[in-house]
Amino acid sequence: MKRMVSGIKPTGELTLGNYIGALRNFVKYQDDYELYVFIANLHCVTVYQEPKELRKNLKDAIGLYLACGLDPQKCTIFLQSDVYEHAQLGWLMTCMSYMGELNRMTQFKEKTQNAKDENITAGLFVYPPLMAADILLYDADYVPVGEDQKQHVELTRDLAQRFNNRYSETFVVPEPLVAKVGARIMSLSDPSKKMSKSEESNKGCIYLLEDINSAKKKIMGAVTDMCAHVNYDKINQPGVSNLLEIMSSLSGEPIDSIVTRYEGKGYGEFKKEVAEVVAKELTMIQNRYNEIMSSGQIEQILKEGAERAHRIAFRKLKKVQKKMGIDIF
Ligand code: AMP
Ligand code: TRP
Repeated sequence: MKRMVSGIKPTGELTLGNYIGALRNFVKYQDDYELYVFIANLHCVTVYQEPKELRKNLKDAIGLYLACGLDPQKCTIFLQSDVYEHAQLGWLMTCMSYMGELNRMTQFKEKTQNAKDENITAGLFVYPPLMAADILLYDADYVPVGEDQKQHVELTRDLAQRFNNRYSETFVVPEPLVAKVGARIMSLSDPSKKMSKSEESNKGCIYLLEDINSAKKKIMGAVTDMCAHVNYDKINQPGVSNLLEIMSSLSGEPIDSIVTRYEGKGYGEFKKEVAEVVAKELTMIQNRYNEIMSSGQIEQILKEGAERAHRIAFRKLKKVQKKMGIDIF
């Protein structure tokens, strides 16, 4: 069975974008791959997090992972910081990375463009080599990510190849796996931007634990256009296309078929159905989330997950240390 690794960085509440772009795909993958999923808490603190809030977000994220259908019997779920090898190999990967290539990382550039120097941590800069370590520790064949993380997986490939060439064959060179539909869910209030928890206005982003009526209202208020026909055209009708992607990826109905059904109909009716589809999905997730959070099983699931992950990560790190000459016996 091919192996797959991915992580989520829950600095803030998880959104519908996270769900469609990442989480929901994991649930599908757990049947066909040996899947490792972790909560990237070490990545979270590359930007200051209020501890109480971070703790809550991490717990919620785990609850949501499980609520969305990840099954600890089928995959390995753990907290990144519980498996110490991530930070260790992260450092070694940092030492394999060049300033130039890290300087080219789009996400780093975006995050630091308007920030004050004192807010830009060194952690933010060396975040990609830590991510590479997360992946390479497990010899992952595939890394399911949203579009914005593809560049980091490409860096991971470069680092793996560099290490393999410099020392000897050690790492599997992973491939990013970006789902076609729903790979980039856009903001409901500004469809030129990604739906993101860091958005200024709250109107464009739906949270997985959001009140159902509030979520419906956001869909009904989504920015569309003057074309007045439901059509998939990302250039001229980005808002409507975004709603189509949301609906198609949640219901499984192909975009073409939705478009055909709405021929000659207005946006109001279309939005209503999108709102219903979103509401149904959120309700299901929230019910399961409440059950899981009150069941008290999370601690045990994470403990078992970390043990399983550690067994693999430990062997890999040892091998790397030996090859680099760090480990002397
Ligand atoms: P983030 O919340 O930005 O740390 O991202 C966590 C995962 O969700 C990554 O794989 C992202 O690419 C994915 N993701 C985040 N926002 C979106 C979005 N609006 N559309 C699709 N995928 C997303
Ligand atoms: N950087 C990813 C994000 O912001 C989270 C992440 C950390 C990750 N390590 C990873 C994703 C390893 C895939 C594989 O979303």
